[in-house]
Parts: sequence; C-alpha cells; structure tokens
Amino acid sequence: MRTVRLNLKDASYNIYIGAGLLKETGRLLMEHGLRKRAVIITDTSVDRLYGSTLEHTLDNCGLAVSRFIIPPGEDKKSLDTVKTLYGSLAEVLTDRTTPVLALGGGVIGDLSGFVAATYMRGVPLVQIPTTLLAQIDSGIGGKVAVDYGNLKNIIGSFYQPKLTIADISLIKSLNKRDISNGLAEIVKHAVILDEKFFDYLEQEIDKIYKLDDSCLDYVVFRSAEIKSKVVTEDEKDTGLRNILNFGHTIGHALETVSDFKLSHGEAVAIGMVAAGKISLKMDMLGNDGLNRLIALLKRAYLPIRLPDLSIESILEVIQHDKKVKNGRLRFVLLKSVGNAVISDVVTADLIRDVLVNWNE
Ligand SMILES: NC(=O)c1ccc[n+]([C@@H]2O[C@H](COP(=O)([O-])OP(=O)(O)OC[C@H]3O[C@@H](n4cnc5c(N)ncnc54)[C@H](O)[C@@H]3O)[C@@H](O)[C@H]2O)c1
Ligand SMILES: [Zn+2]
Repeated sequence: MRTVRLNLKDASYNIYIGAGLLKETGRLLMEHGLRKRAVIITDTSVDRLYGSTLEHTLDNCGLAVSRFIIPPGEDKKSLDTVKTLYGSLAEVLTDRTTPVLALGGGVIGDLSGFVAATYMRGVPLVQIPTTLLAQIDSGIGGKVAVDYGNLKNIIGSFYQPKLTIADISLIKSLNKRDISNGLAEIVKHAVILDEKFFDYLEQEIDKIYKLDDSCLDYVVFRSAEIKSKVVTEDEKDTGLRNILNFGHTIGHALETVSDFKLSHGEAVAIGMVAAGKISLKMDMLGNDGLNRLIALLKRAYLPIRLPDLSIESILEVIQHDKKVKNGRLRFVLLKSVGNAVISDVVTADLIRDVLVNWNE
C-alpha cells in the first residue's frame, strides 16, 4: 500500500493506494476513529460489482451499514438526487459522526461529497473512487458539486474527505474508453509538472493501458501525488490550481459543442494538443515537445485531431468560460514538457488561428 499525504491547514488527510484495498476499508475506518456506523452511497453498476465486498468488510469490523444506490450517469448529479439522498439519510443518520462513503466514479464522489458537506452542516466523508479518473483527479482535492440544468458543477463547495481509499484492482472492470479518459488527466499531470513522470509514461504506456498491476500502482500514486501537491498549495483554486486546467479551456468547449459525444478525457486530449499548438505559435514550446505530447496521447487511444465542429461555436463557449477574468482569458501554456505556465495573453484570434490551421 502506498500513501499520499494531502497537507492542508486544518483538513489534512491520507490517500491510500493499492491493489485489494477495498477489503481493508473496515480496518482503515477503524484506524481513523470511524467505528460505529457507515452509510454507503453508490450507483447500480458499481454496487453490482463491489457493493457487497465493501459491506462485508464493514460488517466484519462491527460497523452498522446502510447502502443507498442511485442509477449511474451525469444526469443524476442533480439537486433532485441530493434531495432523495437527504431523505434517505434522515432515516438512518442521526448523529454527525457517521461517515458517508462515496463508492464510485466522479459522479458519485462529487454528489456524495456535496451531500456529506451539507447534511447536518457536514458529516465525515470517505472517498472510495472506483474509476481511474476519480482515483487520480476528481477524488482528490475536495471539490464537491452538482449540476444545475446544463450548468456543470455550478452548485458546490470545498469539502475534504477524512480519508481516500483507491483500490487499483477495481479499475480492471472499467471499460477501455474510461481508461483512456483517466489517462488523459494522467498525461496532463505529467506534462504540466513532471518531465520524469512523462518519460515514464512514454516508456510504459502500453503496459499501463493493459492495466499491468505494478505500472498502474505507480501511475495512480504519482498522479495522485502531483494533484495533491497542487491542491496543498492552492486549496481554493485562486492561483496555482488553475494549472490543472491545461487543455480544459478548449476541451470544455469541445465537449459542449459536440453535445457531449466527446467524453471529457477525449475533449481534454484535443484541448491539450490545441494548447500545445498555441504554445508553439507563441515560441514557448518546441516542435519536439508538441510531438511527444501528441504521440503519447495517441498511444493512450485518445483523439488528437480537431473534430468537424463549428469553430465559431467553440470560440463562443470559450468566451463564456468561467476562466475569463476581467475580459482576459486565463490560459495554461507549456514552456516545455513538464513545465506549464498560466498566461493571460492568449487572444480569441490566436485560438481561431490554431483551430482553423490545425493540420499545418
Ligand atoms: N471534483 C473534481 O475535482 C472533479 C474533477 C474531474 C471530474 N469531476 C467530475 O467527475 C465526473 C466524471 O467522473 P467519472 O469519469 O469517474 O465518471 P462516472 O462517475 O460517471 O463513472 C463512469 C461510469 O463507470 C461506471 N463505473 C465506475 N467505476 C467502475 C468500475 N470500477 N468498473 C466498472 N464500471 C465502473 C459508473 O457506473 C459509470 O457508469 C463528472 O461529473 C465530472 O464533473 C470532478
Ligand atoms: Zn478534467
């Protein structure tokens, strides 16, 4: 088992990473003083695979368990579901020491985190991320939220878990598209902050994609560590944490304009290539760096070409993006592989130029 410590002023916690950790959940909860009851929130797909394993480990440690199961899907990350869950909690959760265990991907993590943050003004939260993306990204850093209509993550808070348990063997049942989605954020972590990790990914990407245990263990650990370091320095997302938006400004716009036919990871992959091309145009990144990024994304089975979408619509969404500050776009650029900077000099014209001349 590996441990990443997320250091925060008054909410530091550990992220435990390893194969087979789900079965250790009861013991880990006990070690953290969570000994009496637990409430599991999960979705039907994850419950079918792992719900009873989790419940057994808690039973074995003498915890009284309640399990609430919702259907999977982003559309369930809503206030309606929050209301349903409040109703369920009201029946079983009568004191503020009972933890909510979020067993699932980013949807369950964000939704259960929001419920835990607000029910009785906050009950303990334990994240048990089950997708690659949730283990290295959404499950770390305390951003919890629900969507409102088509506004994503618009109602939320910062709420750190008491601990996070990332069992890498759960990733084995994930479909390949979701593996690639997670890999997009892993490549992002490497390319913005850690060239050595990027080298490692270049060397081992085929084994990682095939979910080789020791590679996966290291990759989840290092990626979680990078994200945790950034969060430690800027918990509330007012500075450095912006760097995690590399590839996301154009990525989000692509997701929206494609009507979510592009998955988040796919859109971010194309967005990272676009940001790389912009960095090249601005004489920051060399051709070699851009080509390395493109090659690695391809080997992770992620798209690297601009799909046939309206460029003007993409630009329009970017202008409305919440990262526009005082009329200027905050954009993350690459100086080299492993070294990103936040810039406010990228103009809509430059973005248009790169999108129009994509194949140059
Ligand atoms: N809080 C943050 O900082 C943050 C960061 C990035 C993304 N997010 C959010 O994360 C969400 C996306 O998360 P996601 O990609 O994990 O998607 P998800 O939670 O929708 O999970 C994807 C699918 O995989 C299934 N699944 C989960 N674990 C599985 C497993 N081990 N085996 C088989 N199937 C499994 C789920 O049932 C679901 O159908 C979005 O709502 C996004 O806004 C949040
Ligand atoms: Zn992302």
